[in-house]
Amino acid sequence: MDRQRSVVKVWRSQPTLEGAGVHLKRAFGFFEVKELDPFLLLDDFHSMKPTDYIAGFPWHPHRGIETVTYMLSGRVKHKDSLGNGGDIGPGDVQWMTAGSGIIHEEMPQRTEGMLAGFQLWANLPASHKMMDPRYRGIDSAEIPEVSLDSGAKVRVICGEVDGVVGPVREIVTDPEYLDVIVPLGAVFRREIKKSYTGFAYVIEGKGFFDKKASSPVDSESLVLFGDGTEVQIRAARQSVRFLLVSGKPLREPVAWAGPIVMNTEEELALAFDEYRAGTFLKHQ
Ligand code: FE2
Repeated sequence: MDRQRSVVKVWRSQPTLEGAGVHLKRAFGFFEVKELDPFLLLDDFHSMKPTDYIAGFPWHPHRGIETVTYMLSGRVKHKDSLGNGGDIGPGDVQWMTAGSGIIHEEMPQRTEGMLAGFQLWANLPASHKMMDPRYRGIDSAEIPEVSLDSGAKVRVICGEVDGVVGPVREIVTDPEYLDVIVPLGAVFRREIKKSYTGFAYVIEGKGFFDKKASSPVDSESLVLFGDGTEVQIRAARQSVRFLLVSGKPLREPVAWAGPIVMNTEEELALAFDEYRAGTFLKHQ
């Protein structure tokens, strides 16, 4: 098999209304579960207009997943049923394992300039759906930036680059989550573990996402890689910035309704029954 992973699909993120009325762009979600396994959802929220985001995501439950929120600019206030609370600011990461259940709110704060960030959902395998919930807020300063010989710069949120390990660890599906800038003229090469699902999401600029690519991929686009190991990415016209994410597919049945993702419809119904009855939280 070819070592190179080629691009199998490219699509634009789609305008979506979420939470209490937040206008965001969804790169993938409910309908792409098979292609993106173990990842369930990637939301890109960026706006200059507070009316797009100020309604936020008031108190809501999660079960059966892990979420990674990565802010580029602006602030989101967070509170949860474990007693955690705080601000996620520019460059910060919030990593939450919902496991058996967490109830939280995520409220973007009014910002002068741009509010921008991403939320990625990683699925949990059946064996870990009901694990104890956990939460970690990571300051921007704790996220290492690696300058590669090629000229590319990589913020290592989760995973390891040149022996530098990112602060988000122990996510069950073994993801790698990198924020990469490739200057014009450089070639960024990166191994993605064989059989793992890999994708890039373009934040700024345009790039060629495999060796053979003849037309560049624009910002707000999702690039899904095929089988192989190495990805090769070049900028087009100016530098290109993108998220590069990979993880181990679970290949398990997915039963998904809103913020809760289980393996069976029965587990899903039970979760909503428990939420209504006030017995949803197993760990506080
Ligand atoms: Fe949430």
